[in-house]
Amino acid sequence: MDKQVATSEFEVDVKAGLSKVPKQLSSKYFYDKKGDQLFQEIMKLEEYYLPACEAEILRTQTFSIADRIPDQQVDVLELGAGDGSKTVIFLENLIKSDKKIKYIPMDISSNILEINKENIHKTIPDLDIEPVTGDYFHTMQILKDQMNTKLVLFLGSNIGNYRGEAAVRFLQMVHGFLHQGDYLLMGVDLKKNPKTILAAYNDKKGVTKNFNLNLLERINRELGADFNVTAFDHYPCYDPVAGIAFSYLVSLEAQKVTFEDGTEFGFKINELIHTEVSQKYSLEELSILGSKIGFSEVRHFTDEKGYFSTSLFKK
Ligand code: TRP
Repeated sequence: MDKQVATSEFEVDVKAGLSKVPKQLSSKYFYDKKGDQLFQEIMKLEEYYLPACEAEILRTQTFSIADRIPDQQVDVLELGAGDGSKTVIFLENLIKSDKKIKYIPMDISSNILEINKENIHKTIPDLDIEPVTGDYFHTMQILKDQMNTKLVLFLGSNIGNYRGEAAVRFLQMVHGFLHQGDYLLMGVDLKKNPKTILAAYNDKKGVTKNFNLNLLERINRELGADFNVTAFDHYPCYDPVAGIAFSYLVSLEAQKVTFEDGTEFGFKINELIHTEVSQKYSLEELSILGSKIGFSEVRHFTDEKGYFSTSLFKK
């Protein structure tokens, strides 16, 4: 039943996106089983500096972060938890700071949540973990009044998936879910040398390319479409003023794709499908964003190179 509902929503979104000018596909559909695997590979790439920088911060600065949170009993709700490989460092250090923790990892991928629980229990066998599969918006409403002091984790620079006003709306939603004295700890990729950022989305091994193309493969697999994946290329670019990394798929020839139900979409040669934005921030922009939304305090914890910030927002 669940699968049918998800599949039909997927189908509606894909067809609507391919009907737009320019064509677009939502990045939330990257993460099927193969997409999850490819993303794990991206996270290990030399060029994709984000996870290493964030891990450094969580390894070296969780004690300072914990010092800012006086409460003993804290419910840690992680949005888009992924495989938990970074979070485990954070949780370990938080427990060493004498806090009593419950961990609630939330993700749209139930595959990855199983891996998450296994990974975390390997290092912290006694941790109380209650995974929740689902959409942030709905699930947070349900959990709102059932928790101790909340620390919402939004790591991995996932905030970058939302552009401009959409990021503001997302953070307002999180702010609305928090009670006075609750916290949001958010990982954010910072503006930096544009070549460093571009390389992170254009790796030499082509893993990012395969990750982007997997979206078309997924449409073939699940919606019975006939995308000729080899006739599309991955095109990343970065606008250093706006601080946005864009990912596109480019149709390398004039072609047509047909779905199982007969729906057709034509592509001109070099026509684009927009698949992803990744917004980068400066520390100043982040502080302004925090106060605009109504957080009373914002503190930034950065890595040595100043590539990444894990910022703590207090309601
Ligand atoms: N959205 C994430 C990021 O901006 C994940 C990601 C990395 C990604 N590389 C990608 C998404 C390429 C789409 C295409 O870092």
